[in-house]
Amino acid sequence: MHKTNILPNILKKVGRTPLVRINKIGKAYGLKCELLAKCEYFNAGGSVKDRIALRMVEDAERAGIIKPGDTLIEPTSGNTGIGLALVAAVKGYRCIIVLPEKMSMEKVDILRALGSEIVRTPASNFDSPESNVSVAQRLRYEIPNSHILDQYRNPGNPMAHYDTTAEEILEQCEGKVHMVVGGAGTGGTITGIGRKLKEKCPECKIVGVDPEGSIVALPSELNTAEDATMEVEGIGHDFIPTVLDRSVVDLWCKSNDADSFLMARRLIREEGLLCGGSSGSAMSIAVKAARTLTEGQRCVVILPDSVRNYMSKFLNDRWMGKNGFLKNVQEHKPWWWNVKVQKLNLSAPLLLVPEVNCQKAIEILKEKGYAQAPVVAESGHILGMVTPSNILSSVLAGNAQFSDPVIKVINDQFSKISLDDNLGNLSNILENDHFAIVVHDQMQSPATLCSSCMRDFSPSLSRVMDPLAIHPSPKPHAW
Ligand SMILES: Cc1ncc(COP(=O)(O)O)c(C=O)c1O
Repeated sequence: MHKTNILPNILKKVGRTPLVRINKIGKAYGLKCELLAKCEYFNAGGSVKDRIALRMVEDAERAGIIKPGDTLIEPTSGNTGIGLALVAAVKGYRCIIVLPEKMSMEKVDILRALGSEIVRTPASNFDSPESNVSVAQRLRYEIPNSHILDQYRNPGNPMAHYDTTAEEILEQCEGKVHMVVGGAGTGGTITGIGRKLKEKCPECKIVGVDPEGSIVALPSELNTAEDATMEVEGIGHDFIPTVLDRSVVDLWCKSNDADSFLMARRLIREEGLLCGGSSGSAMSIAVKAARTLTEGQRCVVILPDSVRNYMSKFLNDRWMGKNGFLKNVQEHKPWWWNVKVQKLNLSAPLLLVPEVNCQKAIEILKEKGYAQAPVVAESGHILGMVTPSNILSSVLAGNAQFSDPVIKVINDQFSKISLDDNLGNLSNILENDHFAIVVHDQMQSPATLCSSCMRDFSPSLSRVMDPLAIHPSPKPHAW
């Protein structure tokens, strides 16, 4: 029979992820060895976790534990969720991902697009009732035919890397590897690779990367910076995952956020590798650890995921500056950055009272030519914002009716800014939000500010932002 190259579905993706030579960064650090990157973002869902997601599902199917139509629940920092959601979409499972708030919106959007349901949990200790692990367990008890494959305990997690990732590295290096550097999240990657390499290439050193603020590294004296920020996603924990076998790791090194993000940006800029932040963590350690290697030796660094997950985070100069990771952002600020908001020619906005109904609110906004209005309680307290489109989408989604009071559909996630703040702060807010509310102490009534209000100050701002206009109004009206 004639064979084609067409695969039955994306899960049957064959072939290895690329192993790529790092040309400039290794030289810049004076390394003598060959520095190589295993680009795991070439997997179908964009990360190393695709390997374990498929493995855990297929193992459970073979064991008769799960079948299409069942619900898969997983607590994850995102990438395992994306891998599982992808498998669930193709195989016909319902998928619920329990994700800490810290994880990027890009991951949430991808999970939604793959049809999975998402539950966000606050940053908390793993054993607290609000942690993503505890919440996933509660859902598991409540939902019939639901299962947690549990990447933290599932032996298929390290086995996926033992059988595939490690084999690929050995094959791509023709059996000659002298150091592997990788981060530990669940520890599945480093454990699986470490076990296989200890068997087949015993001289190879396994270097584990653990972010400051995590307690996974050994000896435990390394884990001193308990209050360090851990903005890098995917690695580090306040507990030791069951699947992590720390005996295969020869050396633990602590990474930090700033070095990680700056190195990830270098990998993109200098090597053309569109990797995520924890890839920068691994590489920032590798350039130091590989100093012990000599010419002709090889160091392989695992790049677990792609920048796709972090477009609004470390790729963004403002985010880097705001978090203190890019010191010279200050120098490039435009002339208006420190001008006070009060210098803008602000006019009072249209105000709505919470009792006005949705139909009436749309009519008032349309009639008065406003694109949005704050909803304000009798006390003057701002309850939220409404726009015609958020009213309509709530009604269309069946969450409200036109006859319901507008309070039912308000958006209460809005940023407030004071007249004393500078335009730099406002610009940062408008980078992500459509509007900000200017509140001032003496007057109760707020003003809404949007990108177009800043046109005089920044042509670039008005170009990149949603042009919701503020409309002049002689004095505040409450409807
Ligand atoms: C974003 C990301 N995903 C996954 C992993 C691998 O994690 P695990 O230890 O769970 O195999 C890492 C480790 O560096 C990571 O940074």
